[in-house]
Amino acid sequence: MPIKSEKTKTKWVCQNCGYETSKYLGKCPDCGSWGTLAEEVELTVKQNAASQRALRDDEPSLIDEIEIDSSIRFSTGLEEFDRVLGNGLVQGSLTLLAGDPGIGKSTLLLQSSCNISNNGKKIMYVAAEESSSQVKLRAKRLNLSSDSLYIYAQNNFELIKKHITDLKPDVVVIDSIQAIYSNDITSTAGSVSQIRECTNLLMDLSKSQNITIIIIGHVTKDGNIAGPKVLEHMVDSVIYFEGDKYKSYRILRCMKNRFGTTNEVGIFNMTEDGLQQVTNPSELFLNKEETNTPGNVIIATNEGTRPLLVEIQALVGSTAYPSGRRVSNGVDYNRTLQIIAVLEKRLGINLSKQDVYINVIGGMNINEPAADLGVALAILTCARDVVVDSDTVIVGEIGLSGEIRPVNNLEKRIIEAQKLGFKKIIIPKQLKSGEKKNFKGIEVVEVKRILDAISACVNKVTA
Ligand code: TYD
Ligand code: MG
Repeated sequence: MPIKSEKTKTKWVCQNCGYETSKYLGKCPDCGSWGTLAEEVELTVKQNAASQRALRDDEPSLIDEIEIDSSIRFSTGLEEFDRVLGNGLVQGSLTLLAGDPGIGKSTLLLQSSCNISNNGKKIMYVAAEESSSQVKLRAKRLNLSSDSLYIYAQNNFELIKKHITDLKPDVVVIDSIQAIYSNDITSTAGSVSQIRECTNLLMDLSKSQNITIIIIGHVTKDGNIAGPKVLEHMVDSVIYFEGDKYKSYRILRCMKNRFGTTNEVGIFNMTEDGLQQVTNPSELFLNKEETNTPGNVIIATNEGTRPLLVEIQALVGSTAYPSGRRVSNGVDYNRTLQIIAVLEKRLGINLSKQDVYINVIGGMNINEPAADLGVALAILTCARDVVVDSDTVIVGEIGLSGEIRPVNNLEKRIIEAQKLGFKKIIIPKQLKSGEKKNFKGIEVVEVKRILDAISACVNKVTA
């Protein structure tokens, strides 16, 4: 319904965070970005698309008397995806899958749509950005086929709603929310008002008709197109699909989940034939042949609740500058500086005239302090031309006085190292007496200080 011009009131909406104000401002007072406020038509109650919403008219019921539908969850056919969702999709839920453009969101959802439909559910994939034949082309490339997956190329919300009501699918995928517009809102598709209102309408649709809806949302750095941030509080679950566009692995990470934990991650590999699940992620990041080199160290880090072994490399050499450069890829820069400071002060190693480069193999980003000891040993072994024993994994946070501090999920890290055939693991002193014996086939060495770690696992280079 077009909006009558005489009664039209406008407001200014920040396209980055959704902040609203009655007059133009150069800088958004809420998120601080410049030039992101755009004028949008304010809707009266009658015009507001909210008036289309279906009323749910349930009686209040006692919690003990509410029955749980056992078929409430179903699988996406991808174990990694299911785990992140907390054991599959919940019937009647609204999930937001957010990620950078080109990261593989459409691929992931097309693959899971096919799996879901082959498990006996009717599914409608709304391709708002592509034509049906483009989607078909991708499905062909991925070798997918299904007899209950409907592709609908449309970006008008009212038409989508009509077809959902007619077709009565169990699952609907909206690719993407930024391309959808509702007739009731005058601003362009992709504006904060449009994506917020369309998401609200989809939420109603999902709850009133018990349809599982997955919305794709592009994360954008510039403020012109509203990002999924403004939707996060509305939907049931928010999942981020991330990774380096130039690397093949992708990580699915849950940021919000009304039906489960947010700790899990799923790891995929983008290949010629679509996304492949990585069930043993450590193998993706390890290159065991190269470990017997000064500066190469294997650490056990955590991705969600899953342990992951990764290789850290350091390169230390005389600098051509007045003071040494520090470059850190994959490990927090300030953390690296702190580790170098501890090494200089507590171990008396002078690195001020040395360049120090740190790199995490495979393009992983490690954000936890448990990698500290590994980084320290990588720097040390490279500076002194010695090696950490191959078949050894390093875990531990370093305190400012050079002490090794406890880390979380230690048992899982030890088990992962042992599973992948490592013979020794260096850990902080945190196991209870007797616990060490639980780990068979791997030597567990507890250390209190960096020096203990050095004497436990650092040796001369063997030919
Ligand atoms: P796509 O799912 O279209 O990304 P998004 O929907 O998040 O924007 O995937 C885009 C990239 O994935 C594209 O650059 C090509 C790559 N790709 C593969 O490497 N293998 C494949 O089988 C497919 C379908 C895509
Ligand atoms: Mg896409």
